[in-house]
Amino acid sequence: MDIELHENQRPTMAILTYADQKRVFRGNQENFIDLIHTGEEYGVLVYVMTTAEFKLMGNQAIGYTYNSQTNKWRKELLPLPHVIYNRIPFRKYELLPEVQQVLQACIKHRKIRFFNPTFFNKWTLFEWLNKSKNTQSLIPATQKLTTNADLESLLLKHPNLYLKPIRGKAGKGIMKVSRIYEKNAKARRYELSVQDKTKSHISRYSNIPQLWNQIREMMGSQDYIIQQGITLANYKQRPYDLRVLVQKNSKGRWTIAGVGARLAGKMSITTHVPRGGSIDDPVKLLESGFGPAGSKKILNRAKKSALIIAKQIERASQSMLGEMSMDLGVDNNGQIWFFEANSKPMKFDEPHIRKKSLDNLIQYSIHLAKQPTKAPRLSSGAVKRNAAKDSTSKAR
Ligand SMILES: Nc1ncnc2c1ncn2[C@@H]1O[C@H](COP(=O)(O)OP(=O)(O)O)[C@@H](O)[C@H]1O
Ligand SMILES: [Mg+2]
Repeated sequence: MDIELHENQRPTMAILTYADQKRVFRGNQENFIDLIHTGEEYGVLVYVMTTAEFKLMGNQAIGYTYNSQTNKWRKELLPLPHVIYNRIPFRKYELLPEVQQVLQACIKHRKIRFFNPTFFNKWTLFEWLNKSKNTQSLIPATQKLTTNADLESLLLKHPNLYLKPIRGKAGKGIMKVSRIYEKNAKARRYELSVQDKTKSHISRYSNIPQLWNQIREMMGSQDYIIQQGITLANYKQRPYDLRVLVQKNSKGRWTIAGVGARLAGKMSITTHVPRGGSIDDPVKLLESGFGPAGSKKILNRAKKSALIIAKQIERASQSMLGEMSMDLGVDNNGQIWFFEANSKPMKFDEPHIRKKSLDNLIQYSIHLAKQPTKAPRLSSGAVKRNAAKDSTSKAR
């Protein structure tokens, strides 16, 4: 392979994760191993780096390589990576002061390109996408949920609402409120569905204060958003949504690695697989409701929307991003709706998406490794001093 690097060295990627007492390190180790093997195919050195042992001194760093023969991790002194791929698996780790320090060091490091620096949260995502004309029309009406007035005003406009923890994932803490009109009763009634493990529990209220009391209890101390509920297109009466993997490629441009679909479980208000949902083929599901031509059109629109959204998220977040997964809804009219984006995409089980995602990550890293290093963000005097220092310590 013909790779020209500024410092003439094998392109190197470190996967950053969190180490604790229980295991060598956290995160999906199978994922890391797959990435290491894909790296081998492309001549890229991939290793795992932990926040606890994080030290970028001179030309070397502490990391773990994987031996496929013995199935063992080996701690070694390794070349300083050109690229760091952030896979710290949970928000609670990301928030630790010692981890924050590591993240800042990665962001500021002049020789390292560090991508996906943080988790997203559902409220800032909404704010970012609401800023641009290109993405405004793709997001459901959304507010921060703080008082019962927020709930009441949005319920007047939309018969179904989703309540979601700002920092939630995998359907945890999601609630749905519906306005129902019962025959022979003038009073409005409200229905609250709360997502449990695989089922949703339903309770009914005759007035907003009672409903609000229950919601507040469920919310606890977590921050929530409240969002217009979209009536999703369905297959055999099970609603589905699309999971899109958007990644940068060998040229550093956003591309679609793949589109999957998730069918909701019979008793569920979300489509998550651990909550009774199942994986399916988007073309099959879309064709059943919209026909072959309709399906094609919707799928293309979903891909185009996902690219526009990824670009806007990257611009608004002012950070360097290399990948994200996205949950997109399709309503009964074939219209696309954005639900959320995740900066730590879970593994896609569809083999073709899986393969593509590993290839993209490695090819994007090669691209990054070839980019000129950042100019130091210092005063001009300091820049000069630093430049002088740099020329004497060129080897990495
Ligand atoms: N506004 C909405 N309208 C209809 N369905 C929604 C809405 N928001 C979320 N959902 C459903 O709930 C699922 C989970 O929502 P999401 O925002 O992705 O939260 P999580 O972080 O828990 O995955 C979505 O994939 C979708 O099936
Ligand atoms: Mg989701």
